[in-house]
Amino acid sequence: MKKADLAEHTLTALQEAAERRPGAAPEIAPALLKELNAVLADLQATRAELHEKDQALSAVHVELDRQRERCSEYAERLRTHEHFRITAESAPCALLMVNQAGEIVFANAQSEALFGYRRDELMGRPIEMLLPKAHQGKHVGQRANFLSGPHAARHMGAGRDLCCVRKDGSECPVEIGLTQIETAEGRLVLSSIVDITERRRLERQLEDRNCEIARTQALAVVGRMANMVAHDLRNPLSSIKMGLQILGKEPALHSGAEEQELKQIALEQVRYMEGILVDLLDYSRESPLKPEWLEIDKLLDAATLIVQKTVAERGARVTTHYQSGLPTLHCDGDKLRQVFSNLLVNAVQATEGIGDGAAEVHISTHLELGTDRPRIRVEIRDNGCGVEAGQEEKLFEPFYTTRAKGTGLGLAIVGSVVRQHHGKVHLASAGKRGTRAVVVLPTGPIVGSRESDFTDTREEDH
Ligand SMILES: Nc1ncnc2c1ncn2[C@@H]1O[C@H](COP(=O)(O)OP(=O)(O)O)[C@@H](O)[C@H]1O
Ligand SMILES: [Mg+2]
Repeated sequence: MKKADLAEHTLTALQEAAERRPGAAPEIAPALLKELNAVLADLQATRAELHEKDQALSAVHVELDRQRERCSEYAERLRTHEHFRITAESAPCALLMVNQAGEIVFANAQSEALFGYRRDELMGRPIEMLLPKAHQGKHVGQRANFLSGPHAARHMGAGRDLCCVRKDGSECPVEIGLTQIETAEGRLVLSSIVDITERRRLERQLEDRNCEIARTQALAVVGRMANMVAHDLRNPLSSIKMGLQILGKEPALHSGAEEQELKQIALEQVRYMEGILVDLLDYSRESPLKPEWLEIDKLLDAATLIVQKTVAERGARVTTHYQSGLPTLHCDGDKLRQVFSNLLVNAVQATEGIGDGAAEVHISTHLELGTDRPRIRVEIRDNGCGVEAGQEEKLFEPFYTTRAKGTGLGLAIVGSVVRQHHGKVHLASAGKRGTRAVVVLPTGPIVGSRESDFTDTREEDH
């Protein structure tokens, strides 16, 4: 019982006692009664005061409860935040959180590793800083659309190749997942960014391998066909040729000039057919290399000699510029001579449309000091018809030809032999007029697989 209540209770009890025993009352009252009333008044005042304090105290209690609740809410948020931070730090990919203004508000350690920026360089900056310049403007709109859209997680740029830009300006192919998150600070977007450089490399490798398998399969078919053709056609063709040659040696005796001309034409056609057979056999029988150490100048001179007749018929001028002191090449001499003679014949044939005596073919060599081992670059440049843009790859496919009497196997053989030497070859238009055929061969001994030592000769095109 409270003090005020107790006092009041006591006083009431006294008053009742006095009323019940009137005889005793004169001894108590009036002085005592007065005093008691004063005490009672005092006690009542105290009770009112206490009541007030009581109320104030309950208000404080309510406030304390509210604060306690907020504290535990805040602690829960901190715990969630910490939990998110630990999870994000251990995630195997870069995680960036972006607010509605497109500013980065969170970045994990992997983001630093992927983009090359420190976290403090990322925080508060627009997410567009990590995109290629060409995509930045468009991205602002796409970002706003995504934020105002339904609460959903999705992959970014489905079906498109995405790439981001690192601090050093290099680009990196990436895959991006987006998730909207509702937080006390508003709607945020969590982007998970995976670097897919390695995956792309493996995909390319797989693609190359598949192409290689398809090529080998096609080669096997051509090989079987070529063998059949060789067996069934070669011998009768040789007999016809021999017969024609014998008849050709007995001119005036049995035939007139017209017949003589017909024999000559027949002989030329037989030679042409033989040429087709030789090309077919060369392409289909990809024999192993017989490498030896040879000088590139000598190989090129020998190839020029092989095509001397074609060059002379066309009245073409062949000039050379060989860099001196080039290292010797570990290569199959027969095969490389064929590579260069095929390219030279093509170069001369490409000049057919231009005036007599105007045809020019220039052969040059130089050493490239690349990142790994040095390589020798051979260029055969002509001033002929040039190659159509976009057709450069196609020219190397077997049986692709634009010439009426072509087999379309010349460049296919070139490609195959150069690949065997771990080299690269391509054809490209040479300035205003003509074509430049570029063969790049690595120096040093030929070892290992048939994969090329470098990615593309075009990278070094001058
Ligand atoms: N130097 C060149 N200039 C222009 N086109 C060329 C050149 N070399 C090759 N080509 C094109 O590539 C095609 C394929 O060449 P190739 O494989 O040697 O077969 P072919 O000589 O039998 O046609 C040619 O038909 C021609 O269209
Ligand atoms: Mg050819």
